[in-house]
Amino acid sequence: MPLVRLADYRPAPFLLERTDLVVQLHADHSEVAAQLAFRPNPAAEPGPLLLQGVDLELLELAIDGRKLEPGAYQLGAGELLIAEPPTGSFLLESRVRLHPHSNTTLEGLYVSGGLFTTQCEAEGFRRITFHPDRPDLLSRFRVRIEADRASCPVLLSNGNCVETGELPADPVSGAARHFASWDDPFPKPSYLFALVAGQLEEVTDTFTTASGRPVALRIHVEPGDGPYTAHAMASLKRAMAWDGQRYGLEYDLDEFNIVAVRHFNMGAMENKSLNIFNSKLVLADAETATDGELERIESVIGHEYFHNWTGNRITCRDWFQLSLKEGLTVFRDQCFTEDLHGAALNRIENVALLRNTQFREDAGPTAHPVQPDAYQAIDNFYTTTIYEKGSELIRMLHTLLGEETFMRGMALYVSRHDGTAATCEDFVQAMEDGAAQGWAADPLAPRFDFSQFRRWYHQAGTPRLHIQRHWDGDTGVLELLVQQHTPATPGQSDKQPLVIPLALGLLDQAGEPLAVQLEGDPAAATPKGAGTRLLVIDQAEQSLRLVGLPRQHHPPALSLLRQFSAPVLLEMGRPTAELVHLLAADRDPFARWDAGQVLLRQAVLARAGGGGDGLLEEELIDAFGRILADPSLSEASRSVLLALPGMAELEAACSAAGQEPDPPALFAALLALQGRFGTALAEPLAAALERCMPQWGLAWPEGNGDRLLTGTVWSWLVAAGGESGGAAARAAVAAVGGPSMTLARAGLRALQCQPIPERQQALDAFYQRWQHRPVILDAWFGLEASAPFADGLERVARLLEHPRFDPAAPNSVRAVLGGLAANAPVFHAADGSGYSFMAERIAELDQRNPITASRLAKIFSRWQSYGPARAAAMRGALEQLAAASLSTNTAEVVGQCLGAS
Ligand code: TRP
Ligand code: ZN
Repeated sequence: MPLVRLADYRPAPFLLERTDLVVQLHADHSEVAAQLAFRPNPAAEPGPLLLQGVDLELLELAIDGRKLEPGAYQLGAGELLIAEPPTGSFLLESRVRLHPHSNTTLEGLYVSGGLFTTQCEAEGFRRITFHPDRPDLLSRFRVRIEADRASCPVLLSNGNCVETGELPADPVSGAARHFASWDDPFPKPSYLFALVAGQLEEVTDTFTTASGRPVALRIHVEPGDGPYTAHAMASLKRAMAWDGQRYGLEYDLDEFNIVAVRHFNMGAMENKSLNIFNSKLVLADAETATDGELERIESVIGHEYFHNWTGNRITCRDWFQLSLKEGLTVFRDQCFTEDLHGAALNRIENVALLRNTQFREDAGPTAHPVQPDAYQAIDNFYTTTIYEKGSELIRMLHTLLGEETFMRGMALYVSRHDGTAATCEDFVQAMEDGAAQGWAADPLAPRFDFSQFRRWYHQAGTPRLHIQRHWDGDTGVLELLVQQHTPATPGQSDKQPLVIPLALGLLDQAGEPLAVQLEGDPAAATPKGAGTRLLVIDQAEQSLRLVGLPRQHHPPALSLLRQFSAPVLLEMGRPTAELVHLLAADRDPFARWDAGQVLLRQAVLARAGGGGDGLLEEELIDAFGRILADPSLSEASRSVLLALPGMAELEAACSAAGQEPDPPALFAALLALQGRFGTALAEPLAAALERCMPQWGLAWPEGNGDRLLTGTVWSWLVAAGGESGGAAARAAVAAVGGPSMTLARAGLRALQCQPIPERQQALDAFYQRWQHRPVILDAWFGLEASAPFADGLERVARLLEHPRFDPAAPNSVRAVLGGLAANAPVFHAADGSGYSFMAERIAELDQRNPITASRLAKIFSRWQSYGPARAAAMRGALEQLAAASLSTNTAEVVGQCLGAS
């Protein structure tokens, strides 16, 4: 499969002015008639007209009303080439037949539970009609949808509905038919096209923008699901208000639609004025969704809405610019959540996610820059690097420039590029120009070189910051020797130094912040009490002198990378006592949490290595006891500080320590540590539970921290066993029948890894209660598949045959196969059975749904980090996959994992 390269980008020879579609939906097939109005592109060389088309049966093709003879065009695999198109403007007309009912890829036009729906990003539009289907061609769309009135009473597309009416009955079935015509006044790329037709219940509301424009909001769901849309609707209104206030960006049409779809490859899609959502990200209330899911829904509703400006009004020139819209929009949705629910804990949550997913990607065979320069299948590049690392780059610009200057750059970006297809470079240039204005106004603002900052977009891999310090107690000078180094990644062996914002603070022995003054820095010392200084690291090696510190024997404690000021790995051996001090006293919530994480990782690794560090565990138990009783902390902060590190981070920590990660051993160590904490902290945990219980019934976001900490307490006590463990287990079972899904799932999680009768009781009760609600039952499939017991694979095989398992729903497939991948003892079983089972399932899935299959295949990417036996077994599974007949998507991932490309 050939590579698509950024270097090969050329403007299209023809611009597209209009895309007019007539879509006839029938029970067994559909037909699409398209009129495409082209004109020569003054900015491009003349050339042939290239259209894309996949799985389409071409019925008619004409230019300016004249049918094209077979010799006038070439129809190849996925392409239609017209070598000699007219030299001026022309109208191309085509008619095609397609089969949405048998389309299992969930790309293009397909049917989900009787509902016609579309997914066009990145290259799905070519499954609907012959079209250039490239994001730099923006055209005005008019769409007429024709369908049976009874099975498709609701007909939706982008823009405004301009006409509806009756049609003659179907000549064969006699069914009544009707049509609706939609007109989208905003020119858009084809990937933002959407169409939905079916039986839908509509919930409506209105929002008035800052300038007074009323917008009709409609959420469309399966009949009966209307009562579960209130949270999504309220989230949408919050998002619209936030974008108006924070960015001054208003909605630009009279209506905004959201449709919930059960069969969907990803989370949601920002089609202009017709967002389509995975139904799990729409349908929710306190009884049916956890606090975490409610927060995620709010953030994804925000994300898709924010795309209206960062993605739709300003779109991407080509798919190498994907992070232009995704990184920026993730940054915006993160800020939205931070503004609503508090910055500190959200930052920690996002960092934990980044470290467990993006750092892992950046360290493996599928590592790539935020702006890649080549790909085989674009679907494989909807990655955590493009999204989350992309967002970190924007956040670093925000950190370096400050809110005001960042917003200047943002305003420049919007005013320059509105209505066009832009590049990542356009964004950075706008920021650079905004910075020039901001810096002129503020001589003390930290400076950095934008050209050097740009390297972040092109260089893959997680940079390491290695820090050594020298303390001179006689002069009160702390010298830091900072070295940065980015390891080699596939295809990129030489790395250049980056611009790294490093926020740090110093604490004295009483935990009080010290003023931080950098030698030679014209800016004043940070005021006492605030104590965070932003330093700009920009060389491979540099020395920083912090001066004016109290002259005393003890060096101050060093609080580093506050707020996680850059997506880097810190390499610095800090003594346990210093980390314990930071965990107790650091006022920066991220650095405080991170100090605990370093200690926890050490404790887990020590246990996984066979021994266990008793002294370190005692220190942690002391610190956690104080945290559980600290009146200055919220319950949410307590539970975040007590959260155990994720498996991916633990594996990475093993590798960094020169060991081969042993996932079952790490998993067992995590469980054992929970038991140890539960035993040693039984009293303060019980006291915390007493404190939390009265808040259990408060409506989200209230009570969120109390429910979160309740889950931690249950998990630790159940893991400890004994009398309080038994009581916790019974409470966990009871929660499954209770009014809060958050507590029900917390209970299930606490019982999940324990072979006790309460576990089965809880799972059975959950199944009985929710078996008719597929979106909710997926959680049950996930729990069953990740049960860490010896019969794991048979269990998973049974789940795949379960009458309520829907193999066409990616959510269910991910619940079961993702659950298996997260099931360390079963997936990583020594005999390799977990790997080969998974490889077989992925090969099967790939036949139906390449997007979902290739995403799953990435679980094999870390094979080289394991010991020889496990690595060989994993490699064997990859070879087994490679031998199957694979889609381009999955072949690319498997090839990368095997080091073939
Ligand atoms: N652009 C979408 C988002 O970030 C995600 C997306 C890309 C997607 N391709 C998709 C969603 C395919 C569903 C199916 O919000
Ligand atoms: Zn997005």
